[in-house]
Amino acid sequence: MRFPISLVFFSLGICHGAIALKSGKHCLSACELNLNYVTFNDADAKVSFKVKACQSRLRAASLYLCFAEYCTQDGRDEWLREENTGCQRLANLTLPPFDIVSNYTPEDVARVRRLPADRGSSGIILNEVVIPDANFFDRAFQTLVAAYFEVDIHVTYGIAMYYFWVTVIAIGVGTRFTALIRRVQRQEWSPIPEDDFELDQYRDTKHAPMLSSSYTLLKRYIIFPATFGYRCSQNVGWCTIPPRIQALTIATFVVLNTVLCSVSYPVVHGNLYWPKTSDQLWRYVSDRTGVISLMNFPLVWLFGTRNNVLMWLTGWGFGTFNNFHRWVARVATAQAMVHSVGYTVMIMQRGGWNHMWKYLQKHYFWNGELATIGMCAILGFSVYGLRRSHYEIFLVTHIIFSIVVLITMFYHVEIFVDGEWNIFIYLSVLLWAVDRFVRTLRTLAFNWKFWNTRGFASYDIATNLIRLEIPCSQSMLKTKPGNYYYLYLLNDALFVHQNHPFTLAYVNDAKADSYWRSPSRPDIQRTPSYSSIESDSLLYSSQAPPVSSLVFLIRPYDGFTSRLKKLASLTRRRRSLRVLVEGPYGDTIPLHNFSNIAFVVGGTGIAVPLSYLSRLLSEGSKACNIHIVWAVRSYALLADVSQRDFRGLLDDERVTLTAHITQDDELKDDLIDGLKYVDRLKIGRPDVDAAVEKAAKEAGSRGLAIVACGPSTMADDARRATVRALADGHRSIEYFEESFKW
Ligand SMILES: Cc1cc2nc3c(=O)[nH]c(=O)nc-3n(C[C@H](O)[C@H](O)[C@H](O)COP(=O)(O)OP(=O)(O)OC[C@H]3O[C@@H](n4cnc5c(N)ncnc54)[C@H](O)[C@@H]3O)c2cc1C
Ligand SMILES: NC(=O)c1ccc[n+]([C@@H]2O[C@H](COP(=O)([O-])OP(=O)(O)OC[C@H]3O[C@@H](n4cnc5c(N)ncnc54)[C@H](OP(=O)(O)O)[C@@H]3O)[C@@H](O)[C@H]2O)c1
Repeated sequence: MRFPISLVFFSLGICHGAIALKSGKHCLSACELNLNYVTFNDADAKVSFKVKACQSRLRAASLYLCFAEYCTQDGRDEWLREENTGCQRLANLTLPPFDIVSNYTPEDVARVRRLPADRGSSGIILNEVVIPDANFFDRAFQTLVAAYFEVDIHVTYGIAMYYFWVTVIAIGVGTRFTALIRRVQRQEWSPIPEDDFELDQYRDTKHAPMLSSSYTLLKRYIIFPATFGYRCSQNVGWCTIPPRIQALTIATFVVLNTVLCSVSYPVVHGNLYWPKTSDQLWRYVSDRTGVISLMNFPLVWLFGTRNNVLMWLTGWGFGTFNNFHRWVARVATAQAMVHSVGYTVMIMQRGGWNHMWKYLQKHYFWNGELATIGMCAILGFSVYGLRRSHYEIFLVTHIIFSIVVLITMFYHVEIFVDGEWNIFIYLSVLLWAVDRFVRTLRTLAFNWKFWNTRGFASYDIATNLIRLEIPCSQSMLKTKPGNYYYLYLLNDALFVHQNHPFTLAYVNDAKADSYWRSPSRPDIQRTPSYSSIESDSLLYSSQAPPVSSLVFLIRPYDGFTSRLKKLASLTRRRRSLRVLVEGPYGDTIPLHNFSNIAFVVGGTGIAVPLSYLSRLLSEGSKACNIHIVWAVRSYALLADVSQRDFRGLLDDERVTLTAHITQDDELKDDLIDGLKYVDRLKIGRPDVDAAVEKAAKEAGSRGLAIVACGPSTMADDARRATVRALADGHRSIEYFEESFKW
């Protein structure tokens, strides 16, 4: 470890002989520290040290002479007032006034015995007035200056974490705000383009600033790529590595913490508290890591909650903040470990196991040890393997240990009697409580008679898909493309606490149907054909559902979704289930500002294009070409979704669906009808690289959005292909990922 310049300063500060008068409270405290080593025998021997200090006139006179010898006048009256308050409370006494030493002439002072460090610091009983010698005083002064410097710098460095995240968030908010202003300016000041050609020109010119080389370079090297080139959604062993821009942010945070836990340790040779350099370092490092760890707590809770106002401000998703949450928590845990190890080493060095045992009886101490163990347990139970395979175990242990950590930390910091550190625990609890409160509000806003919320689930063995429809006419909150909801299943009392996120595919309602009859729908986008007439008639004649409902397409896995599947399979008709709906969550990607959009989706990832399509085809959207590349395992799922869930939207000329059947050998006759909406049907997995490259070529210099939602390999392929397209000169390309990753 490097010693800072201040070390040299502090070391040189210790001189032997007359020294310049010092000012401030450290000077007065240094005299006190020196004289605390002395027992003056004019006080009652049986009373406590503090009461003795109030009783002893020899001590008072020695202190006042020390003040006069080494300190300026600053702060003396205040010091006396504070001492007297303490003495009044403790012993109903006041200290003698300063003028008890006013009759000391310089000669008298010169004759007063000087207390050297070697005698003083070993403890001594006296019945006379003394003055610490210059060296002893200076050691006390430097000891205190270093100790108080540390107290302040710990907090300053802890606050630096907040400055760091404020800067990160400000960049996010700034970027979002700039994009918003640009969009508003475009809408307000531009003439509405009349035809396709004008539309293209309009886009080219208006997008020009966005296509600046620096932004392109930023996208290519910083914003889009996986940190180490390819794997981003996929795990690397037992880890996941966030995209490069997030990884850089996190790395900066980790480096900042490491640096701020490693610098500014002014070692004082002759330190009266901790004579050995190693003891000073252990103490300062332990305190620094303890303070910064605790100060990081509210950030951990802020970033980990669903209802985090920063998501709304920046437009960054839950996945991004989840990465921040995890890394702040890891750093805080590492700091807590150093803090605990540091104190354990210091205690063991001082008195071995006996001493340790005494500490373990102290309430604040064992609570601190438990808090660190709790934090480590949270990390242990959050490893990627467990999160993936036993999500509910991860969640329950996460909540239980978080409560344990908050409670034990509360009792750990009780040692600071002024309660100045409790604020970080209160803040964390507050953030958690607000999140739970807003979750409840969202559930009530969906249906304030929440106990009456019903969902209608059906499971089709051929498609291996659960279709869940939840009537939503009573909901107070509007839905937007890209929204997702957390769903609870109340049918099974054991699992009512479990809730899982699902993308809203679309809202099945009469109003949406009227869109297709609306005269505002741009007819030029569709060439009349037999199939379109047929599909229109199909749509127009279709019965509007009695009430609006949210439609979710759910792939059954092992936990929540397998229970849902079991319940839905119990009857051949739609099964009525009691559910709770918490949402909506999630931001809308501004896809309607792009002329070209390519969705690269796998399986139930089709929910994402479904949720955006109506908006993209409605008035005000700039979308001209929407290409959906869908990898789907079976013909049955393809036919079912394209017929039922696309609701005729595939009939629009702007939309192209290329379906890739990956695991079905045989196309049954009864499915052929359902496949007529599919533009291209291919066998085998899509070549994601080629699909992105083709989309980029077709888009030319016009805006292109690549939206990936599917298995992690597919998402990583799409990310890499986007970066390659950028490298090939397609500067107008943007990448959005809707898949959730840990
Ligand atoms: C924003 C978002 C939208 C989603 N939309 C859909 C959708 O429309 N259709 C669909 O079929 N699936 C969707 N999913 C995935 C769906 O949430 C999981 O498949 C589901 O939670 C699995 O539950 P399970 O208990 O059956 O899974 P398990 O068999 O226990 O686990 C399967 C996988 O799901 C992950 N998972 C489990 N619970 C959660 C949770 N609460 N949050 C995040 N991940 C979890 C696990 O880590 C594991 O990787 C979405 C996920 C997210 C994050
Ligand atoms: N909004 C959201 O965040 C959201 C919404 C819904 C779903 N999801 C996620 O989407 C994923 C898909 O779930 P699912 O179970 O419904 O899918 P699935 O049935 O397993 O289908 C995935 C399809 O993608 C293909 N595929 C896999 N990797 C590929 C690659 N690298 N290149 C091309 N094609 C590839 C598969 O081919 P093979 O048959 O050859 O494997 C399969 O056809 C899950 O991770 C789910 O969590 C996310």
